[in-house]
Amino acid sequence: MKKKLIVANWKMNPTTLKQAEGIVKRYKDVSNLVVCPPFVFLNSIKLNKVQLGAQNCFWLNEGSFTGEVSPAMLKSIGCKYVILGHFERRSIFKEDNKTINLKVKACLKSNLNVILCISELKQLKKSLDGIERLNKVIIAYEPAWAIGTGKACSASLAEKKRLLIKELFPSCRVLYGGSVNEDNYLDYNNFDGLLVGELSLKKEFNSIL
Ligand code: 13P
Repeated sequence: MKKKLIVANWKMNPTTLKQAEGIVKRYKDVSNLVVCPPFVFLNSIKLNKVQLGAQNCFWLNEGSFTGEVSPAMLKSIGCKYVILGHFERRSIFKEDNKTINLKVKACLKSNLNVILCISELKQLKKSLDGIERLNKVIIAYEPAWAIGTGKACSASLAEKKRLLIKELFPSCRVLYGGSVNEDNYLDYNNFDGLLVGELSLKKEFNSIL
């Protein structure tokens, strides 16, 4: 899939830095790939053309917020992208559209590219309320039932959703995510790219780059 943006969301994997380095070493060295490891590995893995992204961040740049990581910190270590509003953050950590909106605004202020995840279209307007720099926002459509289940969205349903998103936010690039694998990735060829979980940890990942 040439020139499409491919985002590797490692989630809370792997366990050690050595393993993380091993995964990155296997990747093709291409500039349309964004790798999003856990925070602890961000500053250690060595990249050339591949770009760096985070999986989350806070909405303020510093202060008494134990356990949080700020947009300014991410920027300072060379992060270019941040995933926000992932289904797992919404469902497990109860992040709502209002919180996600604060995070989107803060990341754009720090000049980070935002990969805003939605599993339902109704999350879009509130998450992007009052955002002006939409050219730095990439929307990832990830249906909840397709995440980590091996049951990817059908090409026709995905295309329907893509068109609806484009109607609402024409200047945003739109990615598909949810059980993408080496056999189905071409089903989403109309999208501007892919947000990939499990496959991005495996050697087969290179076949979709
Ligand atoms: P899987 O590719 O493992 O289904 O995960 C999708 C995802 O949540 C990427 O953000």
